[in-house]
Amino acid sequence: MMQTIFSGIQPSGTITLGNYIGAMKQFVELQHNYQCYFCIVDQHAITTPQDKTVLRKNIKSLAALYLAVGIDPNKATLFIQSEVPAHAQAGWMMQCVAYIGELERMTQFKDKSAGKEAVTAGLLTYPPLMAADILLYNTDLVPVGDDQKQHLELTRDLAERFNKKYNDIFTIPEVSISEVGARIMSLQEPTKKMSKSDPNQKAMITMLDDPKLIEKKIKSAVTDSEGMVKFDKENKPGVSNLLSIYSILTGRTVDDLEAQYAGKGYGEFKSDLAEVVVNTIEPIQAKYYDLIDSSELDRILDEGAEKANKVAFKMLKKMENAMGLGRKRK
Ligand code: TYM
Repeated sequence: MMQTIFSGIQPSGTITLGNYIGAMKQFVELQHNYQCYFCIVDQHAITTPQDKTVLRKNIKSLAALYLAVGIDPNKATLFIQSEVPAHAQAGWMMQCVAYIGELERMTQFKDKSAGKEAVTAGLLTYPPLMAADILLYNTDLVPVGDDQKQHLELTRDLAERFNKKYNDIFTIPEVSISEVGARIMSLQEPTKKMSKSDPNQKAMITMLDDPKLIEKKIKSAVTDSEGMVKFDKENKPGVSNLLSIYSILTGRTVDDLEAQYAGKGYGEFKSDLAEVVVNTIEPIQAKYYDLIDSSELDRILDEGAEKANKVAFKMLKKMENAMGLGRKRK
């Protein structure tokens, strides 16, 4: 039987090149060999403040981008989390399996809550919802970037705990993190990951930036004063990040690129890289603009929600039975 994949992306901003390289690019390759569920996790997005008009726009935009990068709705199920209520219901049950202590230890929670006065309860209880997302589909494999590793470990712990305590119903999912590109860094602070919620737009390349802007952002990417195109994460995080992006998008090795730019400064390297990024993103944007206002997009999302609802509802009932919720029915 075909194995199952589940992964999600938050519509909390425009998707970045980091999301593309760390996640979406993998999804496109994996859809041929796995039964895939790809989700727009809007309920995760509201754990931090969102403007409702912008959120609605970002949800649609993310859906169109999934398709524009190459997700084929005939192969994969694409849907919006809030349109499949079993996620929130199962999320609640997983909250009652998780301990506050382990949620407080999540580094993403610590980072996102640090120095903030008002932190929502949802930001703390977000990992059990993520666990529910995954466990509802009997997921075997979860492709994500490096920053989600800890959440995936917790998902496995919660699934095992549930299986032991109630009934052995969950498949324990494996995490899949690609060796290269699992952590694309900020263009302005290359020791921090590139994030779609970074207030500094110059720190990221979004999948909808126009070519001129992409060029500008890459040209002003922070490097160092050494003037040598060399991969050295520790001492040259900026240049190393640009080299990683270049290597992943062209399929060329870092060694090969270092040799090509030996003795040359950053100027030529950066302008070639800008061209590589633009060449990757432009065709995606063309497809995106064809899709964004189409009825086709709504049809795909309706169909996706219908398929996901069927599968998720079944597991939800199993969970309720295991925990003894509701009434027994024949
Ligand atoms: P999110 O929306 O922050 O990111 C979506 C995906 O992109 C990856 N990613 C990166 N990869 C490489 N370099 C980067 N700079 C970079 N930034 C982000 C993320 O690792 C992720 O794979 N909690 C998740 C969403 C989620 C989910 C799930 C994922 C909810 N439920 C179930 C998998 C399974 C998140 O906030 O991703």
